[in-house]
Amino acid sequence: SLHAHPTTLFVNAAQTITCAGPGRARRGIEMQAAGVHAGLGVAVQGDRIVATASDDALRRQIPNAAEVDCQRGLLAPGFVDSHTHAVFGAARFSEHELRATGVPYMEIARRGGGIHSSVRDLRARSDEELYALAGPRLARIAAGGVTTIEIKSGYGLTPHDELRTLRVIARLAAEGPMRVVATCLAAHEIPLEYRERTDGRAAWIETITRDIFPQVASEGLATFADIFCEPGVFNAEETRLVLNAGKPLGLRPKMHADELHDGGAAALGVELGAVSVDHLAAVSPAGVAALAASDTVATVLPATMLFLGTGRQAPVRALMEAGAAVALASDFNPGTSPLQAFPLVLTLAVSELRMSAAEAWVAATVNGAAALGLAGETGQLAPGYKADIAVHAVEDYRALPYWFGERLCIGSWRGGRACHV
Ligand code: NIG
Ligand code: FE
Repeated sequence: SLHAHPTTLFVNAAQTITCAGPGRARRGIEMQAAGVHAGLGVAVQGDRIVATASDDALRRQIPNAAEVDCQRGLLAPGFVDSHTHAVFGAARFSEHELRATGVPYMEIARRGGGIHSSVRDLRARSDEELYALAGPRLARIAAGGVTTIEIKSGYGLTPHDELRTLRVIARLAAEGPMRVVATCLAAHEIPLEYRERTDGRAAWIETITRDIFPQVASEGLATFADIFCEPGVFNAEETRLVLNAGKPLGLRPKMHADELHDGGAAALGVELGAVSVDHLAAVSPAGVAALAASDTVATVLPATMLFLGTGRQAPVRALMEAGAAVALASDFNPGTSPLQAFPLVLTLAVSELRMSAAEAWVAATVNGAAALGLAGETGQLAPGYKADIAVHAVEDYRALPYWFGERLCIGSWRGGRACHV
């Protein structure tokens, strides 16, 4: 049976990768130990994992349990995709081609395209349309073995449109297959209508901190506040204002940091106590050192750099060797990473970032969970953790990054309940 019951044993796996370890982000050298075992099964009661042991030992410990047959596949934690912008309207095909002719991402933004074109588009759509567009995207992401996803607002850029985006995310959390974590990214850009005013930047930051954040917090619509801290978008001082305004309201800081140019954003994120700083393709050695000495997770998004065609990637080996905790995510969004097949991120981790397959698995599970403040809840096959589980039709964990572009996940469970089967 592929349906989990109140007490269920996951058995008959060819290989099991637990990603189990301390209930916090594991750092550099520890990322090599992904916990790969032959003949290891998992017992689930209700929404939690209660034991991992050989199939026979589990059957002795818990007689008469229902069983999920892993069909000699790979038994693994569900992936944690800790950085997406999955609620948007239309695709942005023309920019993809425009960049191919040599027009840079930031130049497209200066011309009022890029994020701004998704903003115009989202504002013109109903909540119902946005929900109807996002639902199938989430189903495709879940089909790749993702059981937890973070989703950011940031294409509304008015109080009304940011809040309704977050309410759509809340509905996806309530009705969708995956565990959903919401982030308010009202500081994604300066809206065009503010850009034209002389005091526009300050006025938009006031709107975010005085109007949007308090409303988001009082409705409980987000766990995190994020900002695009990048030369040409928000500067260091503006980032301080925005993220410090969120903290007392319970909005924990995250950052889009040092994506295209080094602006000291990674070190600023550490100073502000960011749970994660994300992108880092242009991070400086000082930024690497600051991350290594902190609890801030360094989240890298290799699909974005691939899709932008920059020929550049975050210095992941330097980050890991210095001792930073590295997480991998998709950055799924219509401009820079229209990627719904999460396992491709693991391929890019090995081929582009020079991570081992074990490091990539840890970065895409336990460290993704840490990037969402969920290191004690999900991302590991270990007793006490949520039964967020995926089974893949391969016999070796290294096969997932290797057979790229294939659909290999044959079932996933979120809190013990079928997520994708
Ligand atoms: O993470 N860098 C800023 N935000 C997104 C892209 C958003 C967009 O282009 O629509 C990112 O790459
Ligand atoms: Fe992003």
